[in-house]
Amino acid sequence: MTASYTRKPSTAQEKQLLAQSDQHLACGIRSASINPEYSMVIAGGRGSRVWDVSGNHYIDYLLGSGPMFLGHSHPAMVEAVQSRLAAGNSFLLTNDAAIELAALIAEVVPCAEKVSFHNSGSEATLYALRLARAYRGRDKLLKFEGAYHGMHDHALMSAQWTTKVADFPQAVSNSSGITANTAEDVLIAPFNDLQTTEEIIRRHADELGCVMVEPLCRTFVPAPGFLEGLRELTHELDIPLVFDEVVTGFRLALGGAQEYYGVVPDLCAGAKAISGGLPFGFVGGREDIMALAGRAGVESGRHVRLTGTYSGNVMSCAVASALIGELRQPGVYEAVNAKGERLRKALQELLLAADIPARVLGEATAFQPWFIDQDVIDHRSSLGYDWKRQFKLQDLLLDRGILKGQEKFFVSTAHSDEDIDTTIAALADLMPELKAG
Ligand SMILES: Cc1ncc(COP(=O)(O)O)c(C=O)c1O
Repeated sequence: MTASYTRKPSTAQEKQLLAQSDQHLACGIRSASINPEYSMVIAGGRGSRVWDVSGNHYIDYLLGSGPMFLGHSHPAMVEAVQSRLAAGNSFLLTNDAAIELAALIAEVVPCAEKVSFHNSGSEATLYALRLARAYRGRDKLLKFEGAYHGMHDHALMSAQWTTKVADFPQAVSNSSGITANTAEDVLIAPFNDLQTTEEIIRRHADELGCVMVEPLCRTFVPAPGFLEGLRELTHELDIPLVFDEVVTGFRLALGGAQEYYGVVPDLCAGAKAISGGLPFGFVGGREDIMALAGRAGVESGRHVRLTGTYSGNVMSCAVASALIGELRQPGVYEAVNAKGERLRKALQELLLAADIPARVLGEATAFQPWFIDQDVIDHRSSLGYDWKRQFKLQDLLLDRGILKGQEKFFVSTAHSDEDIDTTIAALADLMPELKAG
């Protein structure tokens, strides 16, 4: 894949599959672009590459929206699945793969004295919220404007799609079908504004079940002292602080954002980076809060229900343990961060040289160009960004054999130095067209 890459048009087979998709799928699977010209049916992936049904190969920075942190079809994942599958997967019963993984997570994730297993990031944040509410005996959730915590009703409040902003702490629903009462149980605060957040938390302390935060809020990096201030305040008021580590967990560091930023929450919700794309999520946290999900919860009359049919299934757990084993090898994070940082820096420099107003925000393996001519620190300051240019970048990259999501570039351990070089060359090549709009 080079700047001279030529994307093949959809074959008859791909066109037919796309027509069937329109006919039968309501939604739930994404397109690679909002532009129908770029519709594709994905056929496979290995390492840093994916390919479509028409035979186009792409360097993949979408990575399934983050979970393929070690690349597609990692050999350790394939081996874990193959060696366990013949002996069954789903039993609803305690199994050795789940026990091994719980012990590993407790060892590497700072807040995780105990762990529970689920099937997605949305489930993990939902159950972390429920546990925190039960612990505190209060109903309300404080979350940050623009933060995304998944698809459950309380999470879909003033999330990343919010364009009509309300006065803090009023929540704005992001979906029809959610009851009006739900919004009353959610308070919204501005990320990176500790003073306003503290005022809201102190005013509503008696109603709050927890404060939930994406420590890297989408790609808004926490200002120095922001997470530390939240920690101090919630500790003082005994309000559980929940980190949504669905993106940052095992990605920013083995111990996630809590290790990377050095702030340890009471609970965390994790998912993507270690399951090789198999459905997976977990809640980890303080023993006394997590205990409400077990016998102690039953005995105290405050039992929290959190398990489901597939919780702790063998495949997801065996793969996650195997991939944590890979991530623990010396030098893994140094290498992936160096590659990500090189790409991120090159993108910022190329945008600057092309005189395209933009800020590239995030961390080395999860970053995003915001096309805007002012500093962005939170959702509200990002609102004037040029979303058309964002989508245009996606299409110009596809033309050059590079796949990226609508928001972030995700970098994996499978990306080679050559992939990064190729991507930088493609970015340099597309800048004049991106500038032209
Ligand atoms: C920070 C964050 N929390 C929660 C979720 C929801 O995870 P899932 O899609 O696995 O339900 C996502 C998904 O992108 C996320 O980015």
